[in-house]
Amino acid sequence: MPAKDTYYLTTPIYYPNDIPHIGHGYTTVAADVLARWRRLRGDRVHFLTGTDEHGENIARAAAKRGMTPQEHVDEINPRWHDMLSLLDISNDDFIRTTETRHTARVQDFMQVLYDRGDIYLDTYRGAYCVFCEAYYVADELVDGRLCPVHRRPVEQREQENYFFRLSHYAEQLLRLYDAEPSFVQPAVRRNEVRSFVESGLQDVSVSRVSFDWGVPVPWDDKHVFYVWFDALLNYVTAIGYGSDPDAFQRRWPADVQFIGKDLIRFHCVYWPAMLLAAGLALPEQVYAHGFLLVGGEKMSKSNATGIRPAELVDHFGVDCYRYYFLREISFGQDGSFSWESMEARYTTDLANDLGNLANRVLHMVGSYCGGTVPEPAVAAGDAESALAGGLAAAIEGLAAFDRLDFKKGLEDLWVGIGAVNRYVEARAPWKLHKQGAADELGRCLYTCVDALRIIAVLISPVMPDAAARLWAKLGLDEPLSAQRYPATVQPGLLPAGAKVERGELLFPKLAE
Ligand code: MSP
Repeated sequence: MPAKDTYYLTTPIYYPNDIPHIGHGYTTVAADVLARWRRLRGDRVHFLTGTDEHGENIARAAAKRGMTPQEHVDEINPRWHDMLSLLDISNDDFIRTTETRHTARVQDFMQVLYDRGDIYLDTYRGAYCVFCEAYYVADELVDGRLCPVHRRPVEQREQENYFFRLSHYAEQLLRLYDAEPSFVQPAVRRNEVRSFVESGLQDVSVSRVSFDWGVPVPWDDKHVFYVWFDALLNYVTAIGYGSDPDAFQRRWPADVQFIGKDLIRFHCVYWPAMLLAAGLALPEQVYAHGFLLVGGEKMSKSNATGIRPAELVDHFGVDCYRYYFLREISFGQDGSFSWESMEARYTTDLANDLGNLANRVLHMVGSYCGGTVPEPAVAAGDAESALAGGLAAAIEGLAAFDRLDFKKGLEDLWVGIGAVNRYVEARAPWKLHKQGAADELGRCLYTCVDALRIIAVLISPVMPDAAARLWAKLGLDEPLSAQRYPATVQPGLLPAGAKVERGELLFPKLAE
């Protein structure tokens, strides 16, 4: 059997009822940045996303539209692919839970749990929210009758269901949270999960009989599996569980599973318990980020606050979209989106700090050196050493991405970009040119273009499009995709003699 050799990361699979909004975009972009970052570090990466297509909610939405559930999800599915291409997402696979590669393996997995005695038949009574597809106990309800997530009335339900012996795993889960503090991150979510489990776990219903839009229970075809059990299993069915043992061994366990903080109970309690029951390894980490808020509330379509990614990408471009959310909001905490702050980030960080720098430097290489990167004929002086120090800090700082601290990594990177801007001001190549100090000028412009090369690589996980456009201006033979962190982001690796091209602005002025 092969050993694990692939960095495997996932997003939640999204309900295709909603047209994608920037909340879905947020998780997906963060995961994509990590996937690109790991590839830049030289890892083999497998990045999975997809759609969660079963369940009562989907069946109801389809009925409202006069469609079968399958027609409904087939019709909406392309919008999710559109979002991925709009946001430059480099996922390696996209799973739909209606695919046979998934449904057949869900049946296999659940059969294992049934055969091991971890699933049994019983009757369940309780308060149910159809929008969450989840039961709540009385003291979780708002005003005794509203779902805590959707603030909509819950329904009282009584059903004959199959149950998973979740209670049996409480002790093991508590030991897991204590022994592997990195399993649930950030710490505030781990504490939340831990107290939930500590307060007592009840067995949980894993099947439904009231509708049939789901994966049939193989030993009792009156039932379909509860959509959450079906959905969670996508993380293993998509990578070869039960169908391709070699592929599965090389990827599982997942390195990071991204979720919004609304999903911790399912991913940090049910999911590890299911895996323990099946005798599979647990993911290294489940990371729950915060919500994007609008008017202080979680942004969502049911609150009529959903903003489509295209509304922002059309105006600010995909690079700014990807940069903005990760730079503006501490990953893990809630954050508010505002048009004004996005505009400010575009103008200050992207157009001024980065775009103008590239434009200025390439303009000077064009006018003073005929567009050819000069030889660094004289040795580096104090100004160059100071700049190398600034860049080294930025390069090192970007490793904050390993901890999913995207904000800190980007802040450090922009301190580095600031250092290049200060270097240009301090060395004033226009003066060196006037003075006819050709060697000094050559050293200065070489250093600047070399810094642009490093910056292009460093921004590439977050802004792959801008990085590729900047790279193309530098006229290098090696492709951007061949660059590796940290090996090729060291000063002095730029070959002299490359033909640079100023071309169009990296970040043009925004339309009024
Ligand atoms: N289908 C389930 C997940 C199953 S995973 C096995 C589901 N889908 S969802 O379409 O509602 O998407 C949930 C995810 O979308 C959240 O966990 C989060 O990652 C993202 N977001 C949805 N709204 C969001 C915000 N307002 N802010 C940030 N992320 C949000 O739940």
